[in-house]
Amino acid sequence: MAFHSSLLLSQILLLFMVASSPWTSATYPIQQTFFRCLSTNSKNSVPLSSYYTPNNVSSFTSVLNSTANNLRYLLPTVPKPVIIFTPLSELHVQTAVLCSRQLGLTLRVRSGGHDYEAVSYVSQIEPTFVVLDLCQLRAIEVDIPRGTAWAQAGATNGEVYYRIAEKSKVHGFPMGLCTSLGVGGHITGGAYGSMMRKFGLGVDNVIDVRMVDAKGKILDRKAMGEDLFWALRGGGGGSFGIILAWKLKLVNVPETVTVFTVAKALEQGATKVLYKWQNVAPKLDDRLFIRVIIQASSANLTANRTVLTAYNALFLGDANTLLGIMGKRFPELGLTRADCVETSWIGSVLYIAGYPNTTAPEVLLQGKPLFRNYFKAKSDFVRTPIPEEGLLGLWKIYLEEEVPFMIWNPYGGAMARVPESATPFPHRRGTLFKIQYVATWQDGTQSMARHMSWIGKLYDYMGNYVSKNPREAYVNYRDLDLGMNKKGVNSMMEASSWGLRYFKSNFYRLIKVKTRVDPDNVFRHEQSIPPLPVKKGN
Ligand SMILES: Cc1cc2nc3c(=O)[nH]c(=O)nc-3n(C[C@H](O)[C@H](O)[C@H](O)COP(=O)(O)OP(=O)(O)OC[C@H]3O[C@@H](n4cnc5c(N)ncnc54)[C@H](O)[C@@H]3O)c2cc1C
Ligand SMILES: *[C@@H]1O[C@H](CO)[C@@H](O)[C@H](O)[C@H]1NC(C)=O
Ligand SMILES: *[C@@H]1O[C@H](CO)[C@@H](O)[C@H](O)[C@H]1NC(C)=O
Ligand SMILES: *[C@@H]1O[C@H](CO)[C@@H](O)[C@H](O)[C@H]1NC(C)=O
Ligand SMILES: *[C@@H]1O[C@H](CO)[C@@H](O)[C@H](O)[C@H]1NC(C)=O
Ligand SMILES: *[C@@H]1O[C@H](CO)[C@@H](O)[C@H](O)[C@H]1NC(C)=O
Repeated sequence: MAFHSSLLLSQILLLFMVASSPWTSATYPIQQTFFRCLSTNSKNSVPLSSYYTPNNVSSFTSVLNSTANNLRYLLPTVPKPVIIFTPLSELHVQTAVLCSRQLGLTLRVRSGGHDYEAVSYVSQIEPTFVVLDLCQLRAIEVDIPRGTAWAQAGATNGEVYYRIAEKSKVHGFPMGLCTSLGVGGHITGGAYGSMMRKFGLGVDNVIDVRMVDAKGKILDRKAMGEDLFWALRGGGGGSFGIILAWKLKLVNVPETVTVFTVAKALEQGATKVLYKWQNVAPKLDDRLFIRVIIQASSANLTANRTVLTAYNALFLGDANTLLGIMGKRFPELGLTRADCVETSWIGSVLYIAGYPNTTAPEVLLQGKPLFRNYFKAKSDFVRTPIPEEGLLGLWKIYLEEEVPFMIWNPYGGAMARVPESATPFPHRRGTLFKIQYVATWQDGTQSMARHMSWIGKLYDYMGNYVSKNPREAYVNYRDLDLGMNKKGVNSMMEASSWGLRYFKSNFYRLIKVKTRVDPDNVFRHEQSIPPLPVKKGN
């Protein structure tokens, strides 16, 4: 597919492009120099249409916004890149790495743009940075006879699901529930979804990779060795290199699966049912995943409000089998046949993602989220059930916020069978469930401080009930409150404050791998894995 133009041709193109480009070198020197470097060094010509600069505000803003999921990081006061380059080939990615090093420009890498703190397209620690946006690298090849698929980094998980289901009713892949995540960033942090209790995480089902390293070389699993391949499967995005594509091992799913959503308000005994859920959900049949989405009944703080808990589930089997299990293990929820919807696996993907039941699967090919907010989120892992008094205290704080949002996500099953050090993702045996807390708002900066302070208060309160030493957190729910790397320098002390929460003792092995493969810290951001300082005289 790659187009190898002759050197002569690329030089001619270069002359043509620079001559016809709208920049004047006085106003846009960096932009021009980087483009010239890309054009002269890439064997595959770089069209101007894949290169965006603030010279054309409308196209620049539109590409920057296109996948930016957290509106908080599009506010005018937030630092903007000087260039956005959307490579069309692997060669372009290699050249971008070499040129950014040559010109001393920091690269930020974006696949799906869902980073909670936007480190893929915003730098708070480098004044000048370039965004390499992989949105054009989104090919997916599914091989049903071999039970595998290759997915390029810019493809969304929803597109991967669609391409699998298009070829087979009995294959699937276990990763995220929301369907607009870029597989490039998503899988590097773990990637959980509704099949995690049966098959584990995305990273537990990845068998090969193609990556551009700090020297601009393309490595696959064999060429990079098992240590780096280990680090890529959960060590978080943006630290070791640029993922070009993942090779996935597909899993077998039944032709008929069952989904349901059952809601309980406080007045309907929600607190007692939730207490019971904590004890049973992590121990149920591996095929059954019941998460709890917790909201408030209205956004009006002065109205008579209640807490609503919605039990939202996937069962990899039919409704009758499910009703049998629920009747025995969790009768308190009161699940009935009428609550159950039997569907295909791809139908369950759309259901869990929140699409109305009339939506055709082709919606997944748009790679777009259902909505976008200003938000701040945090996460916790719970190892002992939270007592009812603890829940009652939680509801009090909860109802102080207009649109509070939490998702409680059950563990156990396959999650508990993978050893803590098998991948960098350490939240395995002994974890009952994960909590995600979210504050969302729509009015930009106006009410921001209030929401940020509310989520901080909620997080402080929950400290009594969740994992300790370290208080664990999910790297894919990036939270800069936990600490961040400072300008250019990485302090190990500072880094361990978030590193140990995300990775527990796997953090030390991640540092070793980083020091070996990227000692100059080419791939860095606010929470990238720091290399050990290089000894002088080497
Ligand atoms: C609405 C929403 C729903 C979510 N649902 C789930 C869920 O169900 N399950 C789950 O596990 N997570 C979920 N997440 C979290 C999600 O997995 C992470 O935000 C993930 O990092 C997103 O990947 P991305 O490519 O879309 O993001 P990006 O912002 O593009 O990148 C995220 C990080 O990875 C790095 N990165 C991006 N591309 C590459 C690459 N090609 N090579 C190397 N590094 C790269 C970036 O530099 C950044 O550090 C959700 C997030 C949101 C906003
Ligand atoms: C800016 O980019 C848009 C979209 O690519 C294009 O249509 C428009 O002509 C450009 N404007 C200028 C002044 O170059
Ligand atoms: C991009 O987002 C900013 C901030 O929300 C907004 O002002 C602007 O209109 C958006 N532009 C596009 C093209 O979506
Ligand atoms: C909020 O609820 C109160 C009490 O029910 C009501 O008087 C008020 O009009 C509501 N405000 C809005 C903005 O809906
Ligand atoms: C508040 O709402 C709940 C149901 O949501 C209802 O049971 C209760 O009676 C209401 N209280 C008042 C004072 O309106
Ligand atoms: C969609 O759901 C509604 C009720 O929620 C139901 O009446 C309808 O039959 C469903 N349609 C399909 C295609 O499943």
